[in-house]
Amino acid sequence: MSLRRAVLCSRNRHKARELERLLPGWEIEPLDRGDYPPETGATYVDNARSKARFGREHAAGWLLAEDSGLEVETLGGRPGVESARYAPEGAPAIAKLLAELGGDENRAARYVSELVALAPDGSEHRGTGTLPGRIAHEPRGSEGFGYDPVFVPEGEERTVAELGDDWKERNSHRARAARALLAALGGALLLAACGGSSPPSVERTFARFLAGPDGATWAARFPHQPGSRPCTTRDPLVKKVVAATCSTALSLEKKSVLATFTVSWAHGSRVRAWLVFLRNDGRIASISREGSQ
Ligand code: IMP
Repeated sequence: MSLRRAVLCSRNRHKARELERLLPGWEIEPLDRGDYPPETGATYVDNARSKARFGREHAAGWLLAEDSGLEVETLGGRPGVESARYAPEGAPAIAKLLAELGGDENRAARYVSELVALAPDGSEHRGTGTLPGRIAHEPRGSEGFGYDPVFVPEGEERTVAELGDDWKERNSHRARAARALLAALGGALLLAACGGSSPPSVERTFARFLAGPDGATWAARFPHQPGSRPCTTRDPLVKKVVAATCSTALSLEKKSVLATFTVSWAHGSRVRAWLVFLRNDGRIASISREGSQ
C-alpha cells in the first residue's frame, strides 16, 4: 500500500509512532511547536479539532489530532477532558486519583480517545474509541504511561501497564479510535490514492452488490449511496432506536471493493462501523465490525 503522509498536531513523538502503527500505510510526523492553543474545550472533540485547526495554519495536506482522557464513574466522569491537567502525569496523577477514590467500592472507569482527521479538501473525519475497565487499589506494571498502572481493562485482572505496549497496540482506546477513523475514512482515503475518483470497476462492483441479494439485505439497514445522511438505528446499549448519521464510502483494495458503512449515534460519543469487503460479482466476501461499544 502506498504511504500517505499526515501531520499529527501534537508534540508527542510517541503518539505519532503509536498512531503510525495503528494506521497502516500512513507516515505520521508530529508538528513540534511551542505555541499550541490551550486545551480548554468542553469535549475531547473540541480539543482535537482546535489542535487540528491550529495545525492547518502551519501545515498542508492531511492533519491528525487526538484528545483523550480517563473517566471515573464515581467521580462523575472526572478527570475526563481535564485528564492532562488533573495533576502532573504519572505518579502524582495516580496518587491524587487513588486518594480521591479512597476505599470506594465502585471503581468503574473508562479511557476515551477521539481522533480528528482534516483532509486536504477541508472535510473532517472522526474516530472514537473507548476502553472500559476499573481503577486498581494500587499501581502495578511498568509499560504504557499516564494512568496505565492503575487501569484494569474489562475482562482482565492485570493493569494496562502490566499487559504491556503490544496489548495496548491491539486493544487501547486509541487503537479503537484509529480503527473507527479508518472505517469512517475507508473508501475516501483509498480512493484518494487511486486519483481521487471512484474507478469504474468499483462502481460496477457496487452496482452488482446493490442489485444482488446481499445488497438487498443491507439496504434494509443502511443507505448504500456514497455520502452521509441522517438515519435511525437501534443502539444495543440503551436498547432504543436513536437518531444517527450513516455514511457509506467506496474504495478499491487489491481486487475487491471495500464498502464502509459507518453508523455514529447522535448521543454519547460512540461509533460503530462495518467494513464490508465485496467480491467482483457483488457478493460479500467478509465483514469486519469496528468501533466503540
Ligand atoms: P491529551 O490527550 O494529550 O490531552 O492527554 C490525555 C491525558 O489522559 C494524558 O495526559 C493521560 O493522563 C491520560 N491518558 C490518555 N491516554 C492514556 C493512556 O493510554 N494511558 C494512560 N493515560 C492516558
